[in-house]
Amino acid sequence: MARGKKIYEGKAKVLYEGPEPGTIVQYFKDDATAFNAEKKDVIDGKGVLNNRLSEFFMLGLGQIGVPTHFLKRLNMREQLVRSCEIIPLEVIVRNFAAGSMAKRLGLEEGTQLSRPVVEYSYKDDALGDPLVPEEYIAAFGWASPQDMEDILSIALRVNDFLSGVMYGVGIKLIDFKIEIGRVYDGDFQRLVVADEISPDSCRLWDIETGRKLDKDVFRRDLGNLTDAYSEVARRLGVLPKNATPITKPTLIN
Ligand code: TMP
Repeated sequence: MARGKKIYEGKAKVLYEGPEPGTIVQYFKDDATAFNAEKKDVIDGKGVLNNRLSEFFMLGLGQIGVPTHFLKRLNMREQLVRSCEIIPLEVIVRNFAAGSMAKRLGLEEGTQLSRPVVEYSYKDDALGDPLVPEEYIAAFGWASPQDMEDILSIALRVNDFLSGVMYGVGIKLIDFKIEIGRVYDGDFQRLVVADEISPDSCRLWDIETGRKLDKDVFRRDLGNLTDAYSEVARRLGVLPKNATPITKPTLIN
């Protein structure tokens, strides 16, 4: 499919104008970054896996009535999505303490929380995506109180869906991040899940062994990232069990 002009290049994806007005082609790169791009590498095959996995999760959400920006996958690395105005927040949902929460509160990683915790970071790389209280969100006009009610309900539905899907394949959903976009249908505004849902933006632990199957493998140098993501994809049936390696044969056993 012909894609149009480049609109934006981020750390893991490139966005191009789509074939119809209101559409965008989202291209998944192999680049991995962590700690606000202080750590960088190119991981063969990551983009292909995330394109597939994000398609899988977005389609599943659509099936249970959670609106997303996803329209269709175009090829190995590209998907067509609805163009939307991204609300400048990282919406983070946590079921178990890990990462920045574990550090901030001195909790052991993996401590179960008594209820899911939803928190918001302001999307600004130069500031390092600071955690912000909800009052800031209204005060600075990033989202209205009505938007925040809708965002909370979407975040919790995504959490229930992803937790269940992961539990079904022996994986514990520790936490994840989503982004929300506004789309306009005539005069009406709707909120949709946008960006991507992939092991780049979740923490996923094997229930039996505790093995990490997400981007912490890269952040913390715990092994081969493509192996970890392929394992998630295989368990979900997104990659057939005996899939031909999509990257260098040495990377996937
Ligand atoms: P944190 O514990 O580092 O705050 O991360 C919480 C969740 O958000 C975790 O699943 C990883 C995800 N995340 C992103 O997707 N992008 C980011 O830039 C950061 C910092 C975290």
